Amino acid sequence: MIKIRDLWKRFGSLQVLAGMNLDILEGETLVILGPSGIGKSVLLKHIIGLLKPDNGTVDVNDIRITDLRGPDLFKAVQNMGMLFQGAALFDSMNVEENVAFYLKQHGDPETGHRYSRSEIADLVAHALEMVGLQGTQKKMPSELSGGMRKRAGLARLIVYRPKIVLYDEPTTGLDPIMAMQINELIVKTKENLKATSVVVTHDIFSALYVGDRLALMKEGKIAHITDPDSFLKIDDPLIKFLSTTISQDPRKLKEKNHHG
Ligand SMILES: Nc1ncnc2c1ncn2[C@@H]1O[C@H](COP(=O)(O)OP(=O)(O)O)[C@@H](O)[C@H]1O
Ligand SMILES: [Mg+2]
Repeated sequence: MIKIRDLWKRFGSLQVLAGMNLDILEGETLVILGPSGIGKSVLLKHIIGLLKPDNGTVDVNDIRITDLRGPDLFKAVQNMGMLFQGAALFDSMNVEENVAFYLKQHGDPETGHRYSRSEIADLVAHALEMVGLQGTQKKMPSELSGGMRKRAGLARLIVYRPKIVLYDEPTTGLDPIMAMQINELIVKTKENLKATSVVVTHDIFSALYVGDRLALMKEGKIAHITDPDSFLKIDDPLIKFLSTTISQDPRKLKEKNHHG
């Protein structure tokens, strides 16, 4: 459970977070929609402890991460993972080295167990299989398509089985087919890790495909948060506009993908 209370953050004269309150429930996939520049990435960075607020608190499973620094913070956020907007891979490392990176550094976050080389190889192979990139271990990032790089970034994250996964615009810049693969992977990852997921996006199709609840971010706060059906009925110009951009209900497509 992630509990955000009265969170404020300003950059110069720009008030990005302005008294935000938000509860993210255990095991849910919460999608936060909002136009570009509204502060979605800033919010995620507060949840994972990369940014400190001017005011307010973020509690993750009753640990107040906004109070923590250094090794304490590091320990508290070890069970979280974030897929950054660019899904930046290390260009000088092959896929296997990229995916193994955090495993080699940290070992198992729960037990502190340090993995052997063969354990790492197995875990990496399994993570690559999960994202449909089996056999690409020796490829360099420059040899991968944009969608494959995103998936490799996701493999690097799920390989250490985080309990909270944050996705920053996972489908932005991808063609519709690749975007669909990523949507499927978000659903699969949640089922597989039994993780709590937060997805920020301006892609309403993706939001409806993956989300248990949808939220709209506006003026530094969460303006609305509710189930997908109620969300689509909200009287808000942005939601109305977004609704007109989908020709087919993504949830129908999801049913089809999962049962037929
Ligand atoms: N480290 C920073 N320093 C100064 N301004 C920032 C910083 N991070 C974000 N911003 C500004 O905060 C606003 C919100 O950014 P961001 O969270 O990246 O928006 P979104 O992800 O919704 O597109 C933007 O105007 C951005 O320029
Ligand atoms: Mg962003």
